[in-house]
Amino acid sequence: MADSFSLQDALSGSANPNHQGWHGPWGNQPGQAPPGAYPGPPPPGAYPGPPPPGAYSGQAPPGAYPGPPAPGAYPGPPGAYPGRSGGPGAYPPPGQPSPPGAHPAPGPHGIPAGPLTVPYDLPLPGGVMPRMLITILGRVKPRANGLVLNFKRGYDIAFHFNPRFNENNRRVIVCNTKLDNNWGKEERQMVFPFESGKPFKIQVLVEPDHFKVAVNDAHLLQYNHRMRNLKEISKLEISGDIDLTSASYSMI
Ligand code: GAL
Repeated sequence: MADSFSLQDALSGSANPNHQGWHGPWGNQPGQAPPGAYPGPPPPGAYPGPPPPGAYSGQAPPGAYPGPPAPGAYPGPPGAYPGRSGGPGAYPPPGQPSPPGAHPAPGPHGIPAGPLTVPYDLPLPGGVMPRMLITILGRVKPRANGLVLNFKRGYDIAFHFNPRFNENNRRVIVCNTKLDNNWGKEERQMVFPFESGKPFKIQVLVEPDHFKVAVNDAHLLQYNHRMRNLKEISKLEISGDIDLTSASYSMI
């Protein structure tokens, strides 16, 4: 399930050998195309209509990533957080076109202020769609057992992402889909970038055929869509042994 990242791949869907450990899974690796080289904006009306009023907070995230939030640190040093600072590692990268009528509009959305209560639900109005990037910042609690991201369509779980810190004394990431209360076939990843007590950043990029996941700026895995109607995947549940700093999405 592991695959490589590049912005080109992310946007074209092509497959390449794995390059674990690249710094910056989408916007910050060697060979990146210059600004302006990206595909042009899609035709107006290509996305679903505007969200309901008040669907986004659009508020700035507290503090910089990684490391503990420092009072007044936002927007932080260039590249410290994948916001709009435009420095190295900044995400989305500078110079990206803003597709007219894009939904959701570019820029981080759904970022409430301060620490978030876990379990936490992030509404995804209009569902998910290719080029949507969901970013979760937090810290794993000491002696953690696990954490879970569930991208949900009603009660069904389109994409279950479940790092387990101790499954028979092993650390493993389990991914799956739940339909009508039945789990499908698990996809397991032994590469395990989370550490008890340490901060993390999870980025989930929605691509036409799969979810692509990076942790701490390194590609981790991809998960082929089993639930095809992406527009119905309208909630992300975040739970487990974490302190949650922010959960947001943007279009790239
Ligand atoms: C089960 C577990 C669920 C979910 C599922 C994934 O064993 O109880 O929470 O992680 O595996 O396949």
